[in-house]
Amino acid sequence: MRIDILTILPKLLEGPFADSIMKRAVEKSHAEIHIHDIREYTTDKHNKVDDYAFGGGAGMVMTIQPIADLIDKLQQERAYDEVIYLTPDGEQLNQSICNQLSLKGNLMMLCGHYKGVDQRVRDMYITREISIGDYVLSGGELAAAVLTDAIIRLVPGVLNDETSALSDSFQDHLLAPPVYTRPADYKGNKVPDILTGGNLKAIDQWRHEQSVERTKQRRPDLLSGEE
Ligand code: ADE
Repeated sequence: MRIDILTILPKLLEGPFADSIMKRAVEKSHAEIHIHDIREYTTDKHNKVDDYAFGGGAGMVMTIQPIADLIDKLQQERAYDEVIYLTPDGEQLNQSICNQLSLKGNLMMLCGHYKGVDQRVRDMYITREISIGDYVLSGGELAAAVLTDAIIRLVPGVLNDETSALSDSFQDHLLAPPVYTRPADYKGNKVPDILTGGNLKAIDQWRHEQSVERTKQRRPDLLSGEE
């Protein structure tokens, strides 16, 4: 899996992939993450990547030229399965979208800023628009980092058995059950007996019941398939 992220703030994306599971995924060649600085592609003599909106109004708009030139260059080098624009007015991200995208080979992600990108970028290049939630970030970079993390951890080989994605919340429309580790008794707060009793079948059953109960309490919409 290869992910190319197009941004005007490449430094914002240095941290999220430099540690832990993402770092290992890249080191073990399960994933390639390439960050591209849109500003390097502008032909504007002042290095500008934004301009005033036609028709007036507050806020700047990202111009089409540097983004189009960069996307054209990347698309000449390889075919992309999706060109994703991170935007609060996109379809809302969920586990099912992450599962679908984790099966792809090459993904491109465009991070928006200011009032967004010139609509013609969206019309000409974008195949999918994704929001990570109903709130507005100051740019698409953190959203691209969230999406990349959620996808890459699903790529076969990235997680080991202990952290298997199959038991994650949402994978079966259920939230994950509570988990405990040592000590079994912390200042009188005890771990449920069933988890220390060694009966694996009973533990599986208990975990499932806890998942269902937690989902009913916190996210009943998942049980009714309305997510
Ligand atoms: N850019 C700004 N806010 C965003 C959001 N909620 N999701 C995706 N991209 C964004």
